[in-house]
Amino acid sequence: MKKDFVSIADLSADEVWNLLHTAKEIKAKTQKGEPHTPLAGQTLTMIFQKPSLRTRVSFEVGMYQLGGTALYLSPNEIRIGERESVADVARVLSRYCNGLMARLFAHSHMLELARYATVPVINGLDDLFHPCQVMGDILTIWEHRETLDDLKVAWVGDGNNVANSWINLASKIPMVLHLAVPEGYDPDPDVLKTAEHCGTSEIRVLHDPQEAVKGADVIYTDVWTSMGHEAEQEERAARFQDFQVNDRLVGLARKGVKVMHCLPAHRGEEITDEVMDGPHSIVFDQAENRLHIQKAIMAILMG
Ligand code: CP
Ligand code: NVA
Repeated sequence: MKKDFVSIADLSADEVWNLLHTAKEIKAKTQKGEPHTPLAGQTLTMIFQKPSLRTRVSFEVGMYQLGGTALYLSPNEIRIGERESVADVARVLSRYCNGLMARLFAHSHMLELARYATVPVINGLDDLFHPCQVMGDILTIWEHRETLDDLKVAWVGDGNNVANSWINLASKIPMVLHLAVPEGYDPDPDVLKTAEHCGTSEIRVLHDPQEAVKGADVIYTDVWTSMGHEAEQEERAARFQDFQVNDRLVGLARKGVKVMHCLPAHRGEEITDEVMDGPHSIVFDQAENRLHIQKAIMAILMG
């Protein structure tokens, strides 16, 4: 049966680790310039309802490096769910290509795509999750710390799609995950409940960033206004004022704390230039690892 990558919650802990080890091997090969083309002759179709730099380029380059080719469908091209039903798009594209990657608004559309496609579907972000991002992030943390034991991650900002995927990951890999969000901007309650029920990690939702970053190995932030919520931008900017990752906040965490951001960043809002360009920041290592983790995801699902 074909397998999808729609949410980290769908993986077992062993599958999460298998992905990390595969990405590590693939990255080493790439860095040595050793060709590795298990997907020769295969095509990945990429459906985008939202803009992208990292996701689009890393999937396209990654597919090329694996020996295959990637096709980009821009937001206005097929208008999935408007011009044609999601199920019919899934059925048709499955006849042409070997895998689908989609960046959509509704998570329900992502599930529908996966349900009706007969080829693997990879979630390249939707309103609920951003699983490729968080798998690349944990690879980055593993590389920097050389272990994932005794890990404390402090999420500072919006309880959004990236935060939800972090909560999913915390149900697979033990960690302390403290999320500081303004009241009313909590992560998805069902995602939280399921992860808490697993009992793998200590997950807490707080409203005080200073408390959340105490003893943290990693401080993670993301934009205050995600794609699709632009109308709320002004209100959010006011509500998130105390949630900026700046030198003062970073100074309250562990000495060697790493600062992460999935990017694109709104410098001067959720993160200052000093932090983003400073010694704690590993944001561009994160961005690079999107390539390596997604090559592993594609090699495993489509290989
Ligand atoms: N982090 C991330 O997914 O970036 P893009 O929106 O540019 O793809
Ligand atoms: N939370 C952000 C992530 C962008 C990569 C958004 O959904 O816009």
